[in-house]
Amino acid sequence: MANLKNRDLISMRDLSAEEIGYILVMATKLKALQKSGQPHALLPGKSLAMIFQKPSTRTRVSFELTMFQLGGHALYLNAGDIQLGRGETVADTARVLSRYVNAIMIRTFKQSDVEELAQYASVPVINGLTDLEHPCQILADLLTIKERKHRLAGLKLAWVGDGNNVSHSLMLACARLGMNITLAVPEGYDPDPDIVGAAQEYAAGTGASVVLTRDPAVAVNRADVVVTDTWASMGQEGEHAERIKVFEAYQVNKTLVSLANKDYIFMHCLPAHRGEEVVDEIMDGPHSVVWDEAENRLHVQKALVALFLGANV
Ligand code: CP
Ligand code: NVA
Repeated sequence: MANLKNRDLISMRDLSAEEIGYILVMATKLKALQKSGQPHALLPGKSLAMIFQKPSTRTRVSFELTMFQLGGHALYLNAGDIQLGRGETVADTARVLSRYVNAIMIRTFKQSDVEELAQYASVPVINGLTDLEHPCQILADLLTIKERKHRLAGLKLAWVGDGNNVSHSLMLACARLGMNITLAVPEGYDPDPDIVGAAQEYAAGTGASVVLTRDPAVAVNRADVVVTDTWASMGQEGEHAERIKVFEAYQVNKTLVSLANKDYIFMHCLPAHRGEEVVDEIMDGPHSVVWDEAENRLHVQKALVALFLGANV
């Protein structure tokens, strides 16, 4: 049985296939308890510090409710309002917060800041999005795919757009779990080569394929799952105008999804930029599972934090 007590989630690389499966099973149990109104206060008196250096709707709300529904407490710490914002080091922040709280979630720019936080914290650290990865999002996406497709291994996923943080975590998870992923990305916006290399290594062991193409049609052809994300991530606002031009052919619209399997699902971590990476017809259409994805952030994070703090159902 997987043991996740006192672990960190810095990268999707931190979780084995077995551990991911375990988190999803626990998330499903917790979701059922919540839906049927049964108590599941697994973490009474426990607290989570949430450091935000970038904006958030889903991550902030779902982590706050993660702690509330488990009988614990979450503290929202805007990086600009704490001493970290005026030069207190990441290491010292980690040491101090570890004396107060039972776990720390951080959304920031540099992956190395999350690594440093985890190195100096004596409590579990969770990556709530960096420029490099967004593992909590992918756990929610995996739960959503499992709910809809009743399996993970052997499915074909199409990623259409930027080779960004979300694509990185998704690629690593797919390869680990035996899911085939084809990413259609314009030249100059490729995913990080180290991540692609790691994913290809995992894929060699699970029989999955990790394919990069410039052609969205190749990616979406006979896909079970079509995924996209914003063309300009947080911190890239200055490149927005330029990116819109480069990514024009990478829009998820009716023509593109006509190539996918008939029962494909459409996914987007949100926030969406309607009319850019996806059109209303797809976002609001019958194949879209984007609201389930948003909801499932809550359920997987409840499982994750509970397991990291040694609780179980
Ligand atoms: N998907 C996601 O992480 O959304 P937020 O930026 O609103 O947290
Ligand atoms: N790639 C997006 C994801 C937002 C949840 C970003 O980093 O802004």
